[in-house]
Amino acid sequence: MKGLILSGGTGSRLYPLTYTNAKQLIPVANKPILFRVIESIRDAGIDDIGIVVGSTAEQIKDAVGRGNRWGVNITYIPQEKPLGLAHAVKIAQPFIGDDRFVMFLGDNVIQGGISTLISQFATSDWNSQIVLTRIEHPEQYGVAELGEDGHIVRLVEKPKVPPSDLALVGIYMFDHHIFEAADRIKPSWRGELEITDAIQWLVDHNCTVHPYIHRGWWIDTGAPGDMLSANDLVLEEIEHAIEGYVDRDSKVDHRVTIQRGAEIINSTVRGPAIIGEHARIINSYVGPYTSIDHHVVVENSEIEHSMVLENSRILDIEARIQDSLIGRDVVVARSPIRPKALKLTVGDHSKVGIL
Ligand code: G1P
Repeated sequence: MKGLILSGGTGSRLYPLTYTNAKQLIPVANKPILFRVIESIRDAGIDDIGIVVGSTAEQIKDAVGRGNRWGVNITYIPQEKPLGLAHAVKIAQPFIGDDRFVMFLGDNVIQGGISTLISQFATSDWNSQIVLTRIEHPEQYGVAELGEDGHIVRLVEKPKVPPSDLALVGIYMFDHHIFEAADRIKPSWRGELEITDAIQWLVDHNCTVHPYIHRGWWIDTGAPGDMLSANDLVLEEIEHAIEGYVDRDSKVDHRVTIQRGAEIINSTVRGPAIIGEHARIINSYVGPYTSIDHHVVVENSEIEHSMVLENSRILDIEARIQDSLIGRDVVVARSPIRPKALKLTVGDHSKVGIL
């Protein structure tokens, strides 16, 4: 089997963070979502992976390279315009050839990996397998209606009135029939060739599409709130380890990772949390569900349930920072009058002066 990761898109719902950073490269628990996707495909035994890239192609190539780090072979497939997931499948056909493949959206995070799903599909004679999960507001996703015996009756993309609470997760498995389906469908109201319509075409043409209902968590990291939720869930799941320096005046909980070269000086860190390489936490409090990326400095401040990306500095802030997503190279420093609460979504290279 081969792997196909979709990593185009402008990430407009995550502006300003994605003005300068591809959304798939935003680190969740200090590791880009795209790297987590590559690892879960590799862990399922697939080492030939294509990545469909768009306007952020150069950034993605710089970050991922040829895949040596993971022991996989990466092929880049440029998509000139974001014309839809089924369009991405079409342009990937020369790379996929006759192989069966898994397609994974590069901004999705799923609990527990995909190894079982892949081995089930690889040994089956199904033409496709889709992953569904029950959610409260499925209107913003593809939604499946299943018959009483569990087979797929209908799939609809972003329905106003959803026929069920089963949303399509961004992980799909196909054989070559999907190429014919992608050729036959027409663009949707949003001008895209929808993968949901292509799968409906398979269902309508007597192909076997097996629905798998995923019971763990799943997050599509489209918006800042989703990014923080993904960070919470991944921080709970990873194995923690202390590899950096913690001085005697500091208190570090269990479920905390201190990466190499990081220093915790006269501070408290409560888990689950991660402090990145060469970060420095000085006279500060880092609360649960916080990811501090590499080379960040937090000094004389308190921060909780937040993400701070590389090289940023948080200095002398009296109010506790929480529920915040802070980009790269940001400086949040103190100014004369204080606020009672801070809620920040700040882009890369911003400087924020707090009143
Ligand atoms: C896409 C698919 C949708 C699926 C979702 C999962 O939506 O079209 O069916 O449920 O990914 O993340 P989009 O991200 O294009 O809005």
